[in-house]
Amino acid sequence: MSVSDLFKPLTLSHGPEMRNRFMLAPLTNQQSDDDGSASVFDQDWMRQLSQGDYALVQTCAATVEPGGIAFKRQLGIHSDDHLHGLTEMATSIREGGGLSAVQLHHAGHRARPELGGIPAPASGSTVPGVNALTTHQVERIRDSFITAARRAEQAGFDGVSVHGAFGWILSEFMSPLLNDRTDKYGGSTENRARLTVEVIEGIRRACGPEFQIGWRLSVERYGLRLEELRDITAEILDRELIDYLDLALWDTAQVVHEGAFQGQTMLSVFTNLPRKSVRVGAAGKIMSAQRAGRLLDEGCDFVVIGRAGILRRDFPRQVQQDAFYESPALPVTAQYLRSGGVSERFINYLQGWQTFVY
Ligand SMILES: Cc1cc2nc3c(=O)[nH]c(=O)nc-3n(C[C@H](O)[C@H](O)[C@H](O)COP(=O)(O)O)c2cc1C
Repeated sequence: MSVSDLFKPLTLSHGPEMRNRFMLAPLTNQQSDDDGSASVFDQDWMRQLSQGDYALVQTCAATVEPGGIAFKRQLGIHSDDHLHGLTEMATSIREGGGLSAVQLHHAGHRARPELGGIPAPASGSTVPGVNALTTHQVERIRDSFITAARRAEQAGFDGVSVHGAFGWILSEFMSPLLNDRTDKYGGSTENRARLTVEVIEGIRRACGPEFQIGWRLSVERYGLRLEELRDITAEILDRELIDYLDLALWDTAQVVHEGAFQGQTMLSVFTNLPRKSVRVGAAGKIMSAQRAGRLLDEGCDFVVIGRAGILRRDFPRQVQQDAFYESPALPVTAQYLRSGGVSERFINYLQGWQTFVY
């Protein structure tokens, strides 16, 4: 395959097709208003991205409950008060010709009390002095994901991306290290995956037949086990519960260092699974047209662009114009970001990322 194959459309099992193979990764930017409403900065950012020729734009992680907050000025989707701003975001993306998805997020044990968060651990041993969620509380959080998906649909989004990565609640429940529950949400692999599966199935039932569901998965840290995650993913693909899997790798070229898949790329562990109608893509250091093109050969149906998408809002267009396009290298100056249209709020956040801003 070649770089030009990145511009072939891709059908999804629900709703409209992707016009090409580029998806914007969810990117927290801490520029919403304090109550989680989309700010003028969010709208400006979305307008820039919506003109960038992505097939699908994911929003930053958005809170499904006020208590699930992890970031100051995080986007919210936990209240009807957020609908106005979310509708404007969805409209911008549609007008730019792309599909849209809200990333649904609950921070679980990592919720931040100083921001109004209520730590919600799977286990009583994770956060000193905080009890494990009761079964009833887990079900409430599950239902909050589903209600938030309905809200995304009401706002005009084509779908949602269920945040199952980075130790946040759904990933936390998958982890045998962080989940020692004895109810139906703990113990066996199947039980630890239950919250994720119930969220996805609940969204499918609650939303219309065109509504698209993505699932974002990461495989490292938080006591997660690659072999188990592969089995869970195999089941989710086999049952065609989602439209697309978004593998959140930090480097798509990363090799597995131990266990049954030692020596293989992390990506191949998942792209080798039978996927039926589900589309599979990955994020992680996709900083050039050539790398993006090669990932189709490595088994991806689409590529997910993170940091290169901040450095230039129109990465897909750049690739279309130049098959040897290379993203600007990191770090960059604050002035570079500012002159490109990135808000001061977002720049402040990026200054906290290692190797992003000088
Ligand atoms: C500034 C910044 C914010 C991010 N915010 C989120 C987020 O809200 N949700 C999420 O799942 N991943 C988030 N990520 C991870 C990215 O979506 C992506 O998976 C990661 O950056 C690897 O892709 P890249 O190498 O193209 O940047 C963030 C990454 C960056 C750099």
